[in-house]
Amino acid sequence: MSGPFITRRRFLVLAGGTAGAAAGGGLLLASRDDPPSIVTAGSPRVAAVEQRRRRQGAAITDVAFAAAPLTASTAAGRQTWAYGDTVPGREIRMRAGSVLRAAFTNDLPEPTTVHWHGIALRNDMDGVPGVTQPPVAPGERFDYEFTAPDPGTYFFHPHVGPQLDRGLYAPLIVEDPNEPGDYDRELVLVLDDWLAGADPDTVLAELRDSGMGGMDMGSDDTGMDMGDGGMDMGPSGLGMDVGDVDYPTYVINGRPPEDPFTFEASRGERIRLRIINAGSDRPFRFAVGGHRLTVTHSDGFSIEPVTGDAVLLGMGERYDAVITLAVDGAIPVVALPEGGTSGGLAVIRTATGTAPTPDVRPAELEGRLLTLADLRATEGVTLPPRTPDRTLDFRLAGDMDSYRWTLNGRPFHESQLRNADHQLREGDRVRLRFENRSPMFHPMHLHGHTFQVQHQDGPGARKDTAIVRPMETVTADFEADNPGQWALHCHNIYHAEAGMMTVLSYVR
Ligand code: C2O
Ligand code: CU
Repeated sequence: MSGPFITRRRFLVLAGGTAGAAAGGGLLLASRDDPPSIVTAGSPRVAAVEQRRRRQGAAITDVAFAAAPLTASTAAGRQTWAYGDTVPGREIRMRAGSVLRAAFTNDLPEPTTVHWHGIALRNDMDGVPGVTQPPVAPGERFDYEFTAPDPGTYFFHPHVGPQLDRGLYAPLIVEDPNEPGDYDRELVLVLDDWLAGADPDTVLAELRDSGMGGMDMGSDDTGMDMGDGGMDMGPSGLGMDVGDVDYPTYVINGRPPEDPFTFEASRGERIRLRIINAGSDRPFRFAVGGHRLTVTHSDGFSIEPVTGDAVLLGMGERYDAVITLAVDGAIPVVALPEGGTSGGLAVIRTATGTAPTPDVRPAELEGRLLTLADLRATEGVTLPPRTPDRTLDFRLAGDMDSYRWTLNGRPFHESQLRNADHQLREGDRVRLRFENRSPMFHPMHLHGHTFQVQHQDGPGARKDTAIVRPMETVTADFEADNPGQWALHCHNIYHAEAGMMTVLSYVR
């Protein structure tokens, strides 16, 4: 039976299901005679690479924070868990090449970890329980310490169960000492699909129990044409079914549309927006009423600036965009979940005037939408051309009957760690190929590296999280320069928990 939090299924996800799909292409299984040794998080090689990264006299940023139940109710209503006493947690800001030292305490009633999303950090600080560290038990402390080598917009969140969906997240901004900074001020905006106090473990259990309950088997009224006409992929190509969870509201910087986060500014100011989708299940179409966005960075790395009316962010993606404030009054900043009717709202105020209503829908939402295909890395961050030493193929599929999401036909299981299904060697150029055989999109996220998406006509953006649309194949290359064992998963937190996760293992 489907519970109150689950969206009604419009179709059945069967393409490339689990049957007969055990060993996908690209698996490099260890030979029985001469098993290569896995470079684990505790390996001396991981410490040696960090040593090389660390500069003499590098600045150290010290922070301390706890994950804890929030006793005061948040602006968005109801209790939740948070880093510190706000949602989002307090931003961490540091300079590229400096060291973050974070004393973390777990004051939650269950184990947790902190994952530093997007940072090419030392493997043993990556926060993946069972892979890079044991989970931090309730009442325990864990000291994270690592060099942040690359500037950009990042965030951090737990890597245990669906804890992210409770509001445990905060921005991590790594400033670039060499950037000209062609803007007056920054505004960090964290977008989130908000359960308003509901328990994400219950949501996940409901998804697992829902079975066929809320689903249509046939294609008659599915809103999707599976015949030769192809599927109806909706306006942004994400498909007609973009999420699994029925959220009561959406928040920007922790505030609901009825009581929006407000930023005071002056007309004529150039504002650099750092937009983070910290949602667990929903992609957002982001726009600023009366303004066009010039997008300059994707997942922290610079792109050739491109101007559009709106930008699409999958879960875990970040974009930086510059706007020049050209209006006197209260400017609506909106994040509409793709295909949804209500969304998140913030306000940029340059003068007195009536505040936008919670349901404001600026025309920009329907204007030119920037997506992955529009983005090209700048020359400075483009990987030099090189033939891949190895290609790792991932077939993305789901079995809605049991709410199992799979890579190459199987859900993640810890045994894959020991077998080291996906191997790479330090120094390799590695190609990832994601073939989405399901009618849902998946924002695929690789830990510890920033890959470069490869388009038909050449290299695209550098990213650590890339949207793979239904029935689409996305190819991305990266340099294997950060030894260890690295998670690779869908950043729909419910898909990841239901199996759409694996680990890439460096071997020697
Ligand atoms: Cu932000 Cu493994 O995730
Ligand atoms: Cu997914």
